[in-house]
Amino acid sequence: MIEYKNITKYFGEKTAVNDLTMTLEKGTITMLIGPSGCGKTTSLKMVNRLVDPDEGDILINGDSIFDLDPVTLRRDIGYVIQEIGLFPHYSVFDNIATLPRLHKWDEKKIKDRVHEVLNMVTLDETYADKYPRQLSGGERQRVGLARALAADPEVLLMDEPFGAIDPINRLILQQSFLEIQEEIKKTIVFVTHDINEAIQLGDKIAIMNQGTLIQFDTVSEILANPENEFVENLLGQDRNLKALSLKKAKDYAVQEGYISVSKEADKEEIRKELEDKDLIVAYILDSRDRLQGRYYIDRSAKKVEGRYPIVRETKPYRVTRNTSLTETLSRMLEHGEKKLPVVTREDRLIGVIDLDAIFEEVEQAETPKGA
Ligand SMILES: Nc1ncnc2c1ncn2[C@@H]1O[C@H](COP(=O)(O)OP(=O)(O)O)[C@@H](O)[C@H]1O
Ligand SMILES: [Mg+2]
Repeated sequence: MIEYKNITKYFGEKTAVNDLTMTLEKGTITMLIGPSGCGKTTSLKMVNRLVDPDEGDILINGDSIFDLDPVTLRRDIGYVIQEIGLFPHYSVFDNIATLPRLHKWDEKKIKDRVHEVLNMVTLDETYADKYPRQLSGGERQRVGLARALAADPEVLLMDEPFGAIDPINRLILQQSFLEIQEEIKKTIVFVTHDINEAIQLGDKIAIMNQGTLIQFDTVSEILANPENEFVENLLGQDRNLKALSLKKAKDYAVQEGYISVSKEADKEEIRKELEDKDLIVAYILDSRDRLQGRYYIDRSAKKVEGRYPIVRETKPYRVTRNTSLTETLSRMLEHGEKKLPVVTREDRLIGVIDLDAIFEEVEQAETPKGA
């Protein structure tokens, strides 16, 4: 979809981008990351010809961008930058309508589209009449994204769009950005200096240093096999934990180590079955497999007549299937539970996840390639 071919850019003596070659697939998010001044913004701006390279070519859908008129190109590519992106004296409506108007859409179509993209970025229609200064930082960034999406571009360039937003709102924006992307499937180049943002949002990450592309790969491949010490340092000491954030509880849920019983099942029979099988937990399910509670043998309690007591609980802690392993791990630590039931959104039990499975995952990640 977007191909950089041996792109080099000089600013005087300085080589801002050095022989950059990479291919970005259609419908994916590529995160450009690296230290300040490494050439991220320059690499981004070459796609919509805000900067022209000294050597090399960039193809979009197989066509060289240098065969296209820069003004047309810019009109057809969405561009989101930090803060200053919005016209202060234009209402939100007029900001978002900028590109559709350049495309000479009729006003009815523009109006529908403005409302559609506002809706997409979860702002209601009352925002259309507001001015940028009346919005919070997070809302301004949403409007910036809505404006970039208004003319339905295939390509979206984003330069640290959430960089000036406080951490809590940034998390919210990142989540809704991913949800929007699931729907719109644009080809997105996203510059960031935040490695966590790169890991959370990227399909692929391109790591740059001093104008040179150091590693370009899927997020999990980069976490598992950093190219060199520079990448390792960028990922940080806790890269195995970071890798866990990409993995989902459902992929580690197993259907063993517990029994399931109906609400009507007899407590003493359950206890006997658990003791016979040397298990601790029985999950109580309704006729549609929904988790209603659990019984567990309380081995921390005093034995009564040589046996541990069995306890019934109506609301056991649980994780939903798409919960990340990092989140699952922190729930386990928070609640002091070594095993947690994994459920669907409708609360149907699909298995249990065990703390040991998470530890094994971390250990495997630590084993070097080929070992
Ligand atoms: N218009 C310019 N004129 C001169 N030097 C520039 C210009 N734009 C960027 N540079 C230099 O090119 C290098 C890369 O810049 P940039 O792409 O903005 O880095 P990043 O976005 O990774 O922080 C830096 O050394 C920067 O100072
Ligand atoms: Mg920059």
